[in-house]
Amino acid sequence: MNHALRIITTSPSETEGLGLKLGRFLKAGGGATVCLYGDLGAGKTTLIKGIASAFGIPERDIGSASFVIVAEYETTPPFYHIDLYRVEREDDIDNLGIWEYIGSGGIAVVEWAERLSELPEDAIKGRMNYVDENSREIIIEGINEKDWHNM
Ligand SMILES: Nc1ncnc2c1ncn2[C@@H]1O[C@H](COP(=O)(O)OP(=O)(O)O)[C@@H](O)[C@H]1O
Ligand SMILES: [Mg+2]
Repeated sequence: MNHALRIITTSPSETEGLGLKLGRFLKAGGGATVCLYGDLGAGKTTLIKGIASAFGIPERDIGSASFVIVAEYETTPPFYHIDLYRVEREDDIDNLGIWEYIGSGGIAVVEWAERLSELPEDAIKGRMNYVDENSREIIIEGINEKDWHNM
């Protein structure tokens, strides 16, 4: 069954470690779209650094994509880091053509997924909350728990 997983991390490197596990899970066929929710500083980009490292993308290449809305990495499968922070309206999102990346056969990881009005049915959702300076709560929905625990 797919219950939500709730994880508390107590450092950025722990969040990256969780991201690495999630990235390996995606790579093993566990999913293709990850939608991340949470305020500025919640740790979305930190988690993505870990996810990306499972695909061989160096952490330093993952930016806080404030200026780049879609960063594409030519990995196999292709990896898309989408950051909708700067996007305000639904129209803008449609004009960005992000639906060419999401569900395209590549791996798409989306920050500020609150701004999407629709999601692929099988999207994995990660809600990230600030607990205190060094701790974050991460609630993950949409993964097969048995497969996750066998990773
Ligand atoms: N447990 C933690 N997990 C992730 N980031 C943390 C944690 N504790 C402190 N931080 C800090 O919080 C900030 C998270 O920033 P970032 O990942 O860019 O967030 P977002 O992309 O959600 O805006 C970083 O400065 C990071 O060092
Ligand atoms: Mg970010």
